[in-house]
Amino acid sequence: MGRTGLEQAALALWPRLSTIAGVPAEGYTPRLLAWRDEPDRRRIVLELTAPGQPPLVLKLAPLPADPALFAGSLAAQQAALRAMGGGVPQVLAALPESHALLMERVPGETAAAVMEQATRPEQLDDALEACGRWLAWFHAATDAGMRAYRPRAVCDHLARQRDAVAAGRRQVPLAREFIALSDRVIAEGARYDGLPASAGGRHGDMNLRNLMLAGDPPGQGGVWGLDFAPAQSAPVGHDVARLLLNFAVTCTDPEQIPEGEVLPPRALAAFFRGYVFSGPEDASIGFLLRNQIIADWARIPAAAAKSDLLQQIRLAALRAIARRAFPDLR
Ligand SMILES: Nc1ncnc2c1ncn2[C@@H]1O[C@H](COP(=O)(O)OP(=O)(O)OP(=O)(O)O)[C@@H](O)[C@H]1O
Ligand SMILES: [Mg+2]
Repeated sequence: MGRTGLEQAALALWPRLSTIAGVPAEGYTPRLLAWRDEPDRRRIVLELTAPGQPPLVLKLAPLPADPALFAGSLAAQQAALRAMGGGVPQVLAALPESHALLMERVPGETAAAVMEQATRPEQLDDALEACGRWLAWFHAATDAGMRAYRPRAVCDHLARQRDAVAAGRRQVPLAREFIALSDRVIAEGARYDGLPASAGGRHGDMNLRNLMLAGDPPGQGGVWGLDFAPAQSAPVGHDVARLLLNFAVTCTDPEQIPEGEVLPPRALAAFFRGYVFSGPEDASIGFLLRNQIIADWARIPAAAAKSDLLQQIRLAALRAIARRAFPDLR
């Protein structure tokens, strides 16, 4: 569809959205914030500003063409804001049948952008602590209590995926190493089985591009979470692992990771200064951090790992992290 087509489709909905939101239809200037047009993911995010009016964000997400998914994400965003009393952009209007959403524009930049621009390690610490603070706020507001952690379902999934790779039904880069790592993480499951783990709401897409940090030091002026998956309760390790591995891959030097660990101690300390809801000893965090290396690896298309420089860098980082976490795999 392309960028201009998507932009036109989004702006065509503006008169209806502005009426629902009770803001004037005239006088706003759109600016592109983000867009993607992939075979199964098509979306555009526009900022709309007008003199004397609070800034707005219009998001149109035609793909995936799953109305339940769009409605579920929207409901999750609204439920999170109700539970937390802040930290989530307010929804001003929605057209669920068109997969369109108008919300307040929150200030600041994504945690990913803040970290990319950091020039001192303290800035990375501050940003990571602020991310941890937001996630603890969200999990505390949706607290589902402590449970004995059961890695079984994740291990079964890992085993099925490994079998598919071994049989050639599924392509991943560096298949032999991927299989060895899968076996290693599956074996690790037993170490965590039955240990205490906290549960709470699951954001479902907890990466550094879905957290907005405002102020200096980053997060001092507020932190907001974006882009929720449909709500469900889960061990907190799912969200924590996704965020921390995203940080490990993009912002750390694998040399700084002690053997047997997934992140440098400095990064863990910074994150858990903010993430006071649970600690690094939480069994779901420990196990799912290791599982996340495989999850991220499996998401790199085998063909792209040969041709796409960014994917090659990601894969090299994951491989280096895997070798620190499991020195016996080297
Ligand atoms: N309410 C908002 N206020 C300010 N900026 C926003 C808002 N919503 C989205 N953005 C900006 O637009 C970007 C994309 O938004 P969003 O995460 O909802 O879409 P996405 O297509 O799922 O992106 P990605 O796949 O990169 O996570 C965000 O990373 C952020 O920079
Ligand atoms: Mg996003």
